[in-house]
Amino acid sequence: MLADPWWRDAVTYQVYVRSFADGNGDGIGDLRGIREKLGYLAELGVNAIWLNPCFPSPMADAGYDIADYREIEPSFGTLDEMDALIAGAHERGIRVLLDIVPNHCSDRHPRFQEALRAEPRSAQRSWFWFRPGRGPGGDLPPNNWQSYFGGPAWTRVTEPDGTPGQWYLHLFAPEQPDFNWENPEVRADFVKTLRFWFDRGADGFRIDSAAVLMKDPLLPDLDPDAGPCEPHPYNDRDGIHEIYQEWRAVADSYDEPRVLFGEVWIADPQRFAKYLRPQEMHAAFNFPFLRCAWDPRALRAVIDQTVVFHRPVGAPATWVLSNHDVTRHVTRYGRADTTFDFDDRGHGRPVDLELGTRRSRAAALLYLALPGGAYLYQGEELGLWEVEDIPAELRQDPMWERTDGVNPGRDGCRVPLPWSGARPPFGFSTAGDRQAEPWLPTQPVAWTEYTVQAQLDDPDSMLELYRSALALRRTEPGFGSERDPLRWMDSAEEVLSFRRGDTAACVVNLSAEPIALPPHEAVLLTSSPLTDGGLLPSDCAAWLKVG
Ligand code: NOJ
Ligand code: CA
Repeated sequence: MLADPWWRDAVTYQVYVRSFADGNGDGIGDLRGIREKLGYLAELGVNAIWLNPCFPSPMADAGYDIADYREIEPSFGTLDEMDALIAGAHERGIRVLLDIVPNHCSDRHPRFQEALRAEPRSAQRSWFWFRPGRGPGGDLPPNNWQSYFGGPAWTRVTEPDGTPGQWYLHLFAPEQPDFNWENPEVRADFVKTLRFWFDRGADGFRIDSAAVLMKDPLLPDLDPDAGPCEPHPYNDRDGIHEIYQEWRAVADSYDEPRVLFGEVWIADPQRFAKYLRPQEMHAAFNFPFLRCAWDPRALRAVIDQTVVFHRPVGAPATWVLSNHDVTRHVTRYGRADTTFDFDDRGHGRPVDLELGTRRSRAAALLYLALPGGAYLYQGEELGLWEVEDIPAELRQDPMWERTDGVNPGRDGCRVPLPWSGARPPFGFSTAGDRQAEPWLPTQPVAWTEYTVQAQLDDPDSMLELYRSALALRRTEPGFGSERDPLRWMDSAEEVLSFRRGDTAACVVNLSAEPIALPPHEAVLLTSSPLTDGGLLPSDCAAWLKVG
């Protein structure tokens, strides 16, 4: 029998390229910086890295506005550098996943520029969603759709003859025009892009905004109270499934399996699972788990639901606590409200970082013990928190500007990583001391104690906790193997206690009091020390070897 493909239970480390490591000293993280840190990633014990978009981009949305899908952003490197990075990663047994953005491109993309120069209703415009406006003189947008970043989802263009003209659709910023996926040329162009990177050795793709590609061609007004965050139901029709079936066939046509994992923000489990049928995407992000409160009942429910809705389609579950769009979980778990909400980031509300850190350590042992793939966002292994005091003039996220500062945006989880030394920029550049200020110069001075250098070999550090857990995932098959189901053990309601395989178990104490551990042969790892009497304290987790 063939071994299960690697991606079913891989631990994937998300590299936010411009904030990971700067290889040439210009203050911007880059591919060379990543290559120089491959040893760190290998020792951490991850199986794959996922790079946020690193293609040429004017950076109106941090690279999610792509001007050329088959090149490398010059401030990040070159195609040769990417080849070297992929080769170097493969030598260390690390797979490399890229980030593809099919819903929209940059307004600087040659196809959009051509469309702007062309006539209304021309073939060039049919790559996008150009429509006449409503009202006298076409002064009003074609419908009431709002963009996810705030403000209308339509922008009016000036026609080549200088008159006010058609409007184009952008579900995100105006610099991110939406592609028209009804157009077969758009589809063919993306298949070309997939093959381009697969042929260069990329092991897979994260698919950005994977469930919003299709638009009802009638462009009906939407219920303004429905909330902007759920993809329009039109996406459930066959069109989008055909796209992913085609992509899946491309990915599966390679000898070594390639993976497609989607960013699918759909709350309804059944609807979500439609995107994960055996001939569609291989996996998708588990946002319900990420958003869940640090609460035993809510966590148990979301874990059970995840397992139940993945089972019939045969896709592995995924487990994730943070990413580049989300308030870092050390901060979230240190607040009174521990859930995450894109529209209300809890910014500025009181936070107890010590409590958040303690819970994050326990949460790491929880999610790394669950069956399926795990996604780790750079810096969580260092216990970094959200940087909330970024001055307005340094903020870069379009969310901040487009909501007039009502939404602080996502810069606080994108601050450059601290590697070494006692002062910012904490060795962010691998090019030595001669380095420009980082692009987001807001590392807290308190990160002196959170650098990689400070945490390596400190047995109590977050980094060592992650390294130990990832090592155990390899040596204790129960934790690592996705096919070993999760079996709940008897426990108090405030305790999550489950077995994996024949000999592995995980216990998380979310009650207010220390608890006795269930019968076991050995304690493999704990998120904080046991009490003198051998009890598991509140907000702590343990991995056990059981008989
Ligand atoms: C989701 C990405 O994760 C986010 O960073 C980006 O702004 C939007 N999609 C638009 O591409
Ligand atoms: Ca650089």
